Amino acid sequence: MTNTGEYVADREGRRIPLHGAEEFEAMRKSGRLAAATLDYITPYVVPGVSTGQLDRLIEAFMRDNGAIPATIGYKGYQHASCISPNHVVNHGIPSDDKTLVDGDIVNIDVTVILDGWYGDNSRMYFVGEKIGVKARKLVDITYKAMMAGIAAAKPGNTLGDIGHAIQTLAESHRYGVVRDFGGHGIGRVFHDAPHVDHFGKRGTGVLLKPGMVFTIEPMLNAGKPDVKILSDGWTTVTRDRSLSAQFEHQVGITEDGCEIFTLSPAGYTQPPYCVSAP
Ligand code: MF3
Ligand code: CO
Ligand code: CO
Repeated sequence: MTNTGEYVADREGRRIPLHGAEEFEAMRKSGRLAAATLDYITPYVVPGVSTGQLDRLIEAFMRDNGAIPATIGYKGYQHASCISPNHVVNHGIPSDDKTLVDGDIVNIDVTVILDGWYGDNSRMYFVGEKIGVKARKLVDITYKAMMAGIAAAKPGNTLGDIGHAIQTLAESHRYGVVRDFGGHGIGRVFHDAPHVDHFGKRGTGVLLKPGMVFTIEPMLNAGKPDVKILSDGWTTVTRDRSLSAQFEHQVGITEDGCEIFTLSPAGYTQPPYCVSAP
C-alpha cells in the first residue's frame, strides 16, 4: 500500500481517496496530536470551568505543538473545539458564559491540521463525581457502539455493516441513533467522501478497501433520535431534551482490518479517566 492517487467512487460518484503508506504515516501523526489534545484537556474538565476557558487551553496546546485548529474559520466557526454538554448533541459553541457543573456529561471534539493533514476525534468526559446511573450507561454504550462500528471496519465489509453494528447495539438499549450527522472521509481535507452513517443494513453501501480513511462518530440519545439546531446555526440539541453522547475516532482501512489513528497516548479510553499526577 504505497501511494497512489487512486480513488474509488461512492454511490453518488464522489471520489473516495485510497491513501498509501506515507499518507497513513502523516495521519498517524495528526491523529495522535488530536488524541493528545483530548488527553491534555482532561484534568481541566472539572466543576466551575467554563467551556470558553477549555477552548482557549485547547487552542494554545494545538499551536504549541505546531498544529492549526481546523475548526477556526471552517464555515464561519470561530473556536478550536466543539464542547457539547448533556442534551447538546454536537457543535456546542465554547463560551465564557457556559460553566460546567458537577454531574454534567460533556463531549469535547477537536480537529487539528498538522503538516497539512487533518486529525479529528472526540470523547465524553464526566464533570465531578455526581454522574447519574443513566448518564454513565449512555456514555458506556456510546463508546461500545463506536467500537462495534470500528470492529466492522475492514476490507470486504461495507459502510452499511458499520452502521448496522452501531445501530443494533444502540437500539438494543433503546437509545436513539442520530441520523442527521455522520462520519466522513478525512485526509488533506476536513470532510471528504465517504459519508459514514451510524445506522444501516448489512452488506449495503460502499465496499471498504485498504487505504480508505474516515471517522466513525456515533451520537446516541437516551431518548428519541430527533434533533434540532439552535438559532446560533451550530448548537444541535435533542428535541426531547434527553441526554446525548458521542465518541469519535479516525480510522484507516488496512489489509485485514483498520488502524485507529486517534488512540489516546495516555490511555484515556472512556470516563472516568484516571488522571496521573504531572
Ligand atoms: N469535528 C467535527 C466533526 O467531527 C466537525 C466540527 S465543525 C465545526 O466532523 F465547525 F463545528 F467545528
Ligand atoms: Co468528524
Ligand atoms: Co470531530
